[in-house]
Amino acid sequence: MLFKGELNRAPIKNPARVLDIGTGTGIWAIDYAEIPPNCRFEVDDFEQPWSYSKPFDYIHGRELEGCVRDIDNLYRQALENLKPGGWMEMASMEVNTYSDDDTHLRAKNLLEGIVYMHDCAREYGKDMTSVHSWKEKMEKAGFVNVREEIFKLPQSPWPKDPKMKDLGRYHQVNMFEALGPYCYALFTRVMGWERTEIEVFVAGMKQELRDLNNHLYTKVHIVYGQRPE
Ligand SMILES: C[S@@+](CC[C@H](N)C(=O)[O-])C[C@H]1O[C@@H](n2cnc3c(N)ncnc32)[C@H](O)[C@@H]1O
Repeated sequence: MLFKGELNRAPIKNPARVLDIGTGTGIWAIDYAEIPPNCRFEVDDFEQPWSYSKPFDYIHGRELEGCVRDIDNLYRQALENLKPGGWMEMASMEVNTYSDDDTHLRAKNLLEGIVYMHDCAREYGKDMTSVHSWKEKMEKAGFVNVREEIFKLPQSPWPKDPKMKDLGRYHQVNMFEALGPYCYALFTRVMGWERTEIEVFVAGMKQELRDLNNHLYTKVHIVYGQRPE
């Protein structure tokens, strides 16, 4: 919806060989491949050394904020596994909340929870605020024509604009489902919280997301660059 039906932002032309790292359920890869025989899955750890026999036209990674221990190494391996002129694209929303009218400052549980998530993730060794450095690091790794596009994504259906309201409606559900999983593992393992404490805290965050007087949004970053010809 955010990209008006497109699945990528990099200006790729007829890619024959595409890799979707951290594919999850494979929803992006299945859509991108269009028909089933075009798509196959491999269980692997993208932070380990890659051993692909042939290079790719396009390497894609979506929603990997907080999943990457060493982004420099990821970019290095991606560059080595692209054909000359091939593209890499990383797309992820920030684990954060903003507003243009300071109403996000009323969402105290959410703001506090985000700080805890960032701190715990950093302590665990997988930074959840790394998206800001992705463009610079892609350039440093040797990619050329690197661009970053940033989109606002409402976190509830507060906007008046019908398209943004729809986006907010979907993303609010996404947030309701994601908040628990994000908090439980990190807060119990890193901060030693009890499950009941987290349940109360998550309920507070959800209440702030339900309040449409809070004009909350996050930012989706799309960073893409090309292996030199
Ligand atoms: C937030 S999900 C995003 C899934 C998918 N890219 C999407 O946008 O629908 C992150 C995914 O990355 C996977 N992941 C995290 N670290 C990984 C790693 N080192 N190697 C392979 N997959 C990884 C997780 O298992 C999870 O499925």
